[in-house]
Amino acid sequence: MELRVEDLEIRSRDRRGLDETVITSGLDFSLRRGEILALSGPSGAGKTSVALAILDLLPPGLRRSRGRISLDDGRSIATGRGSLVGMIFQEPALALDPNFVIGAQLEEVARLDGDGAAAARRRSLAMLERVGIAEPARRAGDRPASFSGGELQRIVIARALLRRPAFLIADEPTSSLDLLVQGRILGLLESCRREFDLGILLISHDRRVVAALADREIVLPGRREVG
Ligand SMILES: Nc1ncnc2c1ncn2[C@@H]1O[C@H](COP(=O)(O)OP(=O)(O)O)[C@@H](O)[C@H]1O
Ligand SMILES: [Mg+2]
Repeated sequence: MELRVEDLEIRSRDRRGLDETVITSGLDFSLRRGEILALSGPSGAGKTSVALAILDLLPPGLRRSRGRISLDDGRSIATGRGSLVGMIFQEPALALDPNFVIGAQLEEVARLDGDGAAAARRRSLAMLERVGIAEPARRAGDRPASFSGGELQRIVIARALLRRPAFLIADEPTSSLDLLVQGRILGLLESCRREFDLGILLISHDRRVVAALADREIVLPGRREVG
């Protein structure tokens, strides 16, 4: 299976709908299962916007003005969001709800696939264990504030992988972590790629991260003004 981005252009506009700026244009790439493709480039180049465009989650100030995003088996990404394409965001602490124990936040996702309560719990605990959370049954009852940054990123990865997606978009997955923890999270992504035959779009501005993990790299240049 392949995820294809063809001739993608994203523009931003101001509140009056005027002054459009091209964030990125003419972007073409494809991502196969089992492959890690880096999307790099300077801050503000539009990396996160490309990720959101793929998931059909662009905020109101941004729009896809050209291009096509598709899976080669004809399924649409928007309907497959989460089940076909998982997403992990830059700040693991913001990705989880501080008010709920993490077990509940994973089980809620597992239940999207029709699992009953017991099956959802079993699947959540198994995935927490897989990503390296020790004593998952006990720790599932803790809120996000009781975990370290590295543990939170593991939990976010577990949640993204719970539905066994074919693809994972990882937006700066290690940039908020210290170097030692970064290396461990990169190792986890690499082992998940192999175990789940996952195609990973690895968004990073960090040369070392790209060099350590990516099979191929696409560099987004800085931006241009329209007109
Ligand atoms: N909600 C938004 N509305 C308008 N412009 C935005 C919005 N979000 C981001 N942008 C603009 O889009 C450009 C690309 O941002 P982003 O995709 O976050 O870049 P990167 O992830 O490469 O740092 C930036 O210039 C940013 O100001
Ligand atoms: Mg970004």
